[in-house]
Amino acid sequence: MAASDKAETLWMDEESSLTDAVHSALHENRHQPGGLAGRLERAAATRGRRRPLNVNNMTPLPLSDEDVPLVTVSEPQVSMDDLVLGAQTVTALREVLNEQRNVSRLAAYGLRPRRKLLLAGPSGTGKTRTAEALAYALGIPLVRVRLSAVVSSYLGQTARHLERILEFCESGRWVVSFDEIDMFAGEREDSDHGEMRRVSTVLLQQLEEYAADNLVIATTNHGTSIDTAMWRRFDEVLAYRNPTQAQISSLLEMKLRRFSYKINRELVSRSLSGMSHAEVEAVCLDAMRKSVLAGAKSISTDDLVESAASRKKRYKEAGKSQG
Ligand SMILES: Nc1ncnc2c1ncn2[C@@H]1O[C@H](COP(=O)(O)OP(=O)(O)O)[C@@H](O)[C@H]1O
Ligand SMILES: [Mg+2]
Repeated sequence: MAASDKAETLWMDEESSLTDAVHSALHENRHQPGGLAGRLERAAATRGRRRPLNVNNMTPLPLSDEDVPLVTVSEPQVSMDDLVLGAQTVTALREVLNEQRNVSRLAAYGLRPRRKLLLAGPSGTGKTRTAEALAYALGIPLVRVRLSAVVSSYLGQTARHLERILEFCESGRWVVSFDEIDMFAGEREDSDHGEMRRVSTVLLQQLEEYAADNLVIATTNHGTSIDTAMWRRFDEVLAYRNPTQAQISSLLEMKLRRFSYKINRELVSRSLSGMSHAEVEAVCLDAMRKSVLAGAKSISTDDLVESAASRKKRYKEAGKSQG
């Protein structure tokens, strides 16, 4: 069993194992009409469903000076089970979740949970999805900061916007994500190289004063362009990387699970090497679409290897380097 497979099963909560138990019980006596099976089935269905978070009632949202909402609030939809990550990352995230679930126990000893995370690594490796999955695991909404609305040409205004956002963040229980903070300088990157640095300094100063225990998750696709002073301000910096061969293999299993497939996993994984998780997923989707439209019974090694090759070629032509 690959390390990441093991990691995945660790995310399973008691709820899903109970549901599994109910399902296997059902499987055995599903043909007895009107009996226990039916009742269990209904109970399992209700239990599996999560209570909606009513995110639409969480107004008023903080507004920019131009009356544009500075954040969006949504109910998270994906769980940690949908992510294939390195063992170290999984361990760190599990610890962070455990701390978030035990805020008052920590507080009794004058301790606080880790709450400011920076996820850094190439695009398509699951950083944005991690923020959502953490909110899902905690059963709270995800607040996404709209950086394009936050950054103004006046630094004072940007600071004011950030102040409003953090004040809002302190007013409830949620996970707050500052996605792709390297885009913070907006399109003005070429005009003034110092712009991003100044804006991120303001963000970090504001975060320093951030009083709540809520998780704040910043992500960046360009870890190297963030200076060490910035890294130090986070409680945890997690490096995201393109998947290893073993992780590609787990990804294949995860992404193709709804299909029947007969493949040489090692060969396919090798043909996908160097791709990000998102690219591996795209190759699987190519193969699934093709197989459906061709009326094929199952997905083959060739389907995936061919799709991998043609995607690699297209990425190369589009000037995208393969990690
Ligand atoms: N580690 C991963 N495990 C499983 N799927 C992934 C992973 N990383 C990316 N994906 C797939 O690619 C999509 C885009 O990933 P995303 O989290 O937006 O990447 P990033 O923010 O690192 O650029 C996800 O919605 C998911 O379908
Ligand atoms: Mg992202």
